[in-house]
Amino acid sequence: MENRHPEKAISVLLKEQRLYPPPASFVKSALVAGKAARERLQAAAHRSSDKFWDSAARELRWTRVWRKTLDWKPPFAKWFVGGRLNLADNCLDRHLDGPRRNKAAIIWEGEPGETRTITYLQLHREVCLFANALKELGVKKADRVAIYLPMVPEAAVAMLACSRIGAVHSVIFAGFSAEALRERIVDAGAKVVVTADGGWRKGAVVRLKDAVDEAVAGAPCVESVVILRRTGGDITVYEGRDHWWHRLTAKASCDCPAEPLDSEHPLFILYTSGSTGKPKGVLHTSAGYLVETAWTTRYVFDLRDTDVYWCTADVGWVTGHSYVVYGPLAVGSTIFMYEGAPLTPHPDRFWSMVERHRVSVFYTAPTAIRTFLRLGSDFPRRHDLSSLRLLGTVGEPINPEAWSWYRDVIGGGRCPIVDTWWQTETGAILISPLPGATPTKPGSATLPLPGIDADVVDKTGKPVPLGSGGYLVVRRPWPAMLRTIWGDDERYKREYWSHIPGLYFTGDGARRDKDGYFWILGRIDDVLNVAGHRLSTMEIESALVGHAFVAEAAVVGRPDEVLGQAVAAFVTLKGGRTPSPELKEELREHVAKAIGAIARPSEIRFTDSLPKTRSGKIMRRLLRELATGGAIKGDVTTLEDFAVLARLQQDEE
Ligand code: WTA
Repeated sequence: MENRHPEKAISVLLKEQRLYPPPASFVKSALVAGKAARERLQAAAHRSSDKFWDSAARELRWTRVWRKTLDWKPPFAKWFVGGRLNLADNCLDRHLDGPRRNKAAIIWEGEPGETRTITYLQLHREVCLFANALKELGVKKADRVAIYLPMVPEAAVAMLACSRIGAVHSVIFAGFSAEALRERIVDAGAKVVVTADGGWRKGAVVRLKDAVDEAVAGAPCVESVVILRRTGGDITVYEGRDHWWHRLTAKASCDCPAEPLDSEHPLFILYTSGSTGKPKGVLHTSAGYLVETAWTTRYVFDLRDTDVYWCTADVGWVTGHSYVVYGPLAVGSTIFMYEGAPLTPHPDRFWSMVERHRVSVFYTAPTAIRTFLRLGSDFPRRHDLSSLRLLGTVGEPINPEAWSWYRDVIGGGRCPIVDTWWQTETGAILISPLPGATPTKPGSATLPLPGIDADVVDKTGKPVPLGSGGYLVVRRPWPAMLRTIWGDDERYKREYWSHIPGLYFTGDGARRDKDGYFWILGRIDDVLNVAGHRLSTMEIESALVGHAFVAEAAVVGRPDEVLGQAVAAFVTLKGGRTPSPELKEELREHVAKAIGAIARPSEIRFTDSLPKTRSGKIMRRLLRELATGGAIKGDVTTLEDFAVLARLQQDEE
C-alpha cells in the first residue's frame, strides 16, 4: 500500500488555519452546547463505553432488554447481547402513541414536480401492507430481498417492510447496470426483487425493469419480482413471476405485528467496492446499528421535531440507509426526499426545494457542492434559504474553497457545517463535529465522536506523531460496525483486521494536526472515490478485460475538480486490433454496461504494454502520475521495461 495522494494536497489543507467556533445563535439551543458539554460526553464515554452505549440504547423500544452490552471476540462483535427489538417498530409504531402520529414522516418531490406528504401513521400502514405482501410471496425471516428502486417513498417502505418481518434487504443503487445487479442478487441469494417500471432522472425515464429482467434471467434464486408503478411506461410483465405492487397491497391486510428480532439478527447487506474485483456484501445487524444511527442522527444533526431534514443521498448507498431512512425515522424526524437529478429542470432546483419545503438541515456530498460552486452563486441567491440552520457533508474530503462557499452562500454564514467521516462498513458517522460544541476547520472532519476510539498509526499500530501521515484505524468496536462480509468471514478478517494487527483498518490515510483534528487524505488501497462513490480499480479493469479486443488494462484515479477523482484507464489491445476513437467510446460504454454509468472512464489511453515491476505487478503509481499530467518522478529501479514508460510518455506528447 502506498499513499496515492500527493503531499501537496495535504500541505495545502494543513496551511488551513481558520477556526470557526459554533455560531453563538446556534449554540444557544443546541443539544450539545459548548466545549464543556462535549468534553463531559467524551469523558463519560471514555470512562465506560458500555455505559455510554447502554444509555443510547435505552432511547429505543425493546421487547427484551439485553444482558450484555458487548461481546468481543476479535474481530467478531456482538452488541446488546440477548436483547430483542424491531427496527420498523422503533421507526414507526413507537411514534404513533404521541404527537408524531400525524406528523409528516416523508415529504417527497418527484423530478417532474409532483409532491407527496406521508405521515407517520400513513407510512406505518404502507409498511404493514407491503410487509404482508412480501409474506404472501413466501418471504420469511432471514430471507433476502433485493431492492432496485428510484428515490421514491416506496424505497423506504420496502426497506422497513423487510425489517418489520426480519427479512434482510439488499438495496442496489438504481444506477448500477443489469450485470452488476445480477452479481449482487446472486451473491445474496435474493428470493424477491422489488423494482419499478422506471424512475425519472434528467427528464428521462430510467428503464429499471429491463435491467431487472436481464439480471433475473441469470439469477435462478429469484422467485418473484414486485413492480411499483412509477412512470406508467411500457414494460414486460412476466406472468407468474412478476407482481404489481399496488395489486399485492390492495389484497393485503394492514395488520402486521412487528417481529421481535434478536439484537444480532441480520438487517441488511450493502455491496461496496473493495480492493479486489468482486464487490463485497457488507453485513449490518439490527440493534447496534439502530442505536448508533439514531444517536448520531440526533446529535450530529442536532435534530428536533420542527426540523425538515434533507439528506440528498440515494437509498442505494449507505448514507441513504443510515441518514435518509433508519436514523431520521428512529428519532421521529420529517425527511425531505427528492427523486431526480440536482440540475433538472434548472440549476436552481435544489434551492427552490429548500425554499418551498423550508428545509432546515441539509446534508450532501462535496462533489455536489463543487458542481454548484462552479455554476455560480446566482442560482442559490434567487431563493430564500433562511430556513437552513445546519449543513453537512459526507463521502470525500471537502476542499476549503468549497467549504467556504457552502458556509457563506448556502448557509448565509450562520449555519455550522458538520463534515462527517464514515464508511459503508462503519454503519454510522464516527468522526464529525458536534455542531454546537466543536469549532470547525474547513476540510477537517474534526474529532471522533464520543465512544469512538479512532487514531492515526503506522504499519505496526503505533500512533504517529501529530502532524505526520499514517493509517486511519479504529481501536475498539462500535455498535454499528459491520459484522462480517456476507458469506466470507475470511475476507472480513483479511480486509479489515489483518493490515494492522488488532485494529480495524479503514483503508484511508489521515493526519492529525496539533489540536488532534483529523484530516482525511483519502483511500490508500485500490479503491477510487469518484463523486463520492466508491469504485474498485480492479472491478473496472476486469470489465475492460472482458471486452473481446482488450488484452490488459490498468485503471487509476486522477484528480478532478468536480468529481474529486476521475477514472483513467490504460489499455493494451490484443494483437491485430488497432486503437481508434470509436473503440475508446466503445470501451467506455462497455464499462458502463458492465458496472454502471458511474464507473464509465473519463479517459482511455491505448498503450503497447504496461509498466511492471520484475514480479509482474503493474506500477500504478507511475500511471497515476502520467494520468495526472505530471512528469514521472520517484523510484523506477524496479521497472521491468524502461522503454514502456518512455513510450507511454511519448504518447502524451
Ligand atoms: C471517504 C460513505 C473525507 C473515505 C459514507 C471513506 C470521506 C469512504 C468522508 C467511504 C469525509 C467518507 N471526509 N473522506 N467526511 N466521508 N469519506 O463506504 O475515503 O461510500 O473510506 O461511505 O469515503 O465511502 P462509503
